[in-house]
Amino acid sequence: MIIKNIGQLVGIQPQGVLRLEGAAQGETGVLENAWLQIEEGRIVDFGTGPVIPSAASVSPETHSAQGLGVTIIDAQGGMVMPGFCDSHTHVVYAGSRDGEFLDKINGLSYEEIAARGGGILNSSDLLNRTSEDELYRQSLPRVQEMMDKGTVALEIKSGYGLCPEGEMKMLRVIDRIKKTIPAAVKSTFLGAHAIGRGYAHEAYVQMVIDLIPEAAQYADFVDVFCDEGFFTVADTDRILEASKHLLTPKIHANELAVSGGVQVGVKHLALSVDHLERTTDAEIEALKGTWTMPTMLPGSSFFLGLPYGRAKDFLRAGLGIALASDYNPGSSPCGDMRFVMAQGCIKMRLTPVEAFNAVTLNSAYAMGISSEYGSVTRGKKAALILTEPGWTLTRLAYQYQTPFIRKVIL
Ligand code: NIG
Ligand code: FE
Repeated sequence: MIIKNIGQLVGIQPQGVLRLEGAAQGETGVLENAWLQIEEGRIVDFGTGPVIPSAASVSPETHSAQGLGVTIIDAQGGMVMPGFCDSHTHVVYAGSRDGEFLDKINGLSYEEIAARGGGILNSSDLLNRTSEDELYRQSLPRVQEMMDKGTVALEIKSGYGLCPEGEMKMLRVIDRIKKTIPAAVKSTFLGAHAIGRGYAHEAYVQMVIDLIPEAAQYADFVDVFCDEGFFTVADTDRILEASKHLLTPKIHANELAVSGGVQVGVKHLALSVDHLERTTDAEIEALKGTWTMPTMLPGSSFFLGLPYGRAKDFLRAGLGIALASDYNPGSSPCGDMRFVMAQGCIKMRLTPVEAFNAVTLNSAYAMGISSEYGSVTRGKKAALILTEPGWTLTRLAYQYQTPFIRKVIL
């Protein structure tokens, strides 16, 4: 496939750049009036001007003669960018929680809804009454919608089963989605999302620990909701210790309180610590010099009316940040990464390029796939968005609701 007449080719990075930190997060490689060549699903070359040097040797005629076939797409001045990478979602769930929407509007907090047996437990009841096939059938269209909106790689968590059967059912459904769709899928065991019904706290933590070897047959990562009213630092420490050499941690931390989740995540070499709505300087200090990617989820700040994370302070401290959707029925019923990017700019004061790198390369890093996804780099997967003519990264975030995608290439 050759894409020609590209107005702007953005997100160009040299090989080997796996994440962007500090001032570097504010920069991206851009070529104007460009072309890009794809072979067997990978970016093989790109450049500027009307001429396509290496593509000259693969004229459509030659390829058809060899039965290979070349598709030439005229971008007509559209922008080509890496597709969105969404490193934190709970998109496999049953039913909906629109029944709690009114409670929320009327002023009940996330914690109050959870304390009344609503929230995550509500989704868990529903999930445990839903068959595996039905769960797959309900979840797939959400993933399809995300891909239509430009997401080319996503992480999906378990965490609504809250018992061995339910958690394994979720992990199998995630696995089935992984095998069905062209986007990349990473799977996370989030048994420690809430205390399942009928369990005492300790017994539940033990159940999660006991389930780790079986979960690891499907999952890539382990997650713990380390926050006030859910799991303690001590619980998290035990679960991560038991996951060692089996599952890499990604932690829910500091959404509802300054929880200590960042520090325990860093201690266990978490690939990311996510949420961070409540962050002190101690968390920023703890993250310096680590391989852990701080990840913020502006969609849940928006939906729950929480503070937005201190994104700029992280960058000033020389760290990188990722942004993800947190798509889930309780705190962020939306998987639109373009909206996440816009919120990064509007609410967190990121520049469009900083926000763009947060929803592409850095979010790919937070899934451990940034050697394959998240930038325009020779050899990487051609997981790209071709926009309608005239779009730029700035306009994408500024005019944040106007449809901009002409084609998602996967
Ligand atoms: O990331 N914070 C914990 N988990 C989800 C919410 C899940 C739910 O409410 O269903 C989150 O916000
Ligand atoms: Fe989450």
